[in-house]
Amino acid sequence: MPPRSLDPQRIEVRGLSKSFQFGNSTIEAVRDVSFSVRRGEFVALLGPSGSGKSTVLNMIATLIRPSGGEILIDGKRIAAGKATPGVGYVFQRDTLFPWRTVADNIGYGLQLAGVPERERKERIAACVAQAGLTGFEQAYPSALSGGMRQRAALMRTLIVEPQILLMDEPFGALDTHTKIDMHEVLLRIWEREQQTVLFVTHDLGEALTLADRIILFSARPGRIKDMFEVDFARPRDAVKVRETPRYAELFQHIWHSLGEEFVKGRSA
Ligand SMILES: Nc1ncnc2c1ncn2[C@@H]1O[C@H](COP(=O)(O)OP(=O)(O)O)[C@@H](O)[C@H]1O
Ligand SMILES: [Mg+2]
Repeated sequence: MPPRSLDPQRIEVRGLSKSFQFGNSTIEAVRDVSFSVRRGEFVALLGPSGSGKSTVLNMIATLIRPSGGEILIDGKRIAAGKATPGVGYVFQRDTLFPWRTVADNIGYGLQLAGVPERERKERIAACVAQAGLTGFEQAYPSALSGGMRQRAALMRTLIVEPQILLMDEPFGALDTHTKIDMHEVLLRIWEREQQTVLFVTHDLGEALTLADRIILFSARPGRIKDMFEVDFARPRDAVKVRETPRYAELFQHIWHSLGEEFVKGRSA
């Protein structure tokens, strides 16, 4: 793999803040958050529930307008409400269309982009195979397990080949083992495609398995409390990495800091 330290910044977040009006009170969700993500880097935003992780991701996705600060993608300032080309978003709950088959769900973005049917079919077939969904192309989402649905949802985003992937707890609703299967799927795809990934999670094990770097958020208002380099070798095996002494060491170190924020969040 290329030396990533030489790679330019893809995402730059500077002094980002967000407050929500809620009736006649104001909720300060995010306060003065600054960080950047290098090209091809996999960064996890980790924090307890309510720490502003989704709000930050939604601002980067231009779905929410910041109250302060700015966001640059490839050096250009982005504007709320204006989708940035090359940015893909995977949500927590899979958002497959129940009335479309697996193949038609995965191919949706290509259809929107006006890709001819022949090419569409080839690319859908490649994605179906990659996601281990062969044989289920003509099934409807209701006939699939949660893990299969989430794989199809992931492929629906990946098929348009985004260079930046924003992921908001995409595996949050899955059981532990299905989640680890998804980590394997995502790691193999990312090793090959080298997208720049910003992955939101409250699950420390997940962040350690996947990321090059973990940005730890404090309880509300979300601020950056700490950052950790995750130096396990690549390619990583999502099962075996959890057995290493270094994993246990990093887990314990970060858990202490994350735990303090859980407790604060509880009493907030
Ligand atoms: N649209 C909204 N209106 C009012 N408050 C909101 C809105 N979205 C988020 N919040 C509040 O902002 C805080 C951070 O939320 P969120 O970014 O969803 O946290 P996380 O993703 O870390 O769980 C929470 O207290 C939440 O209630
Ligand atoms: Mg969230």
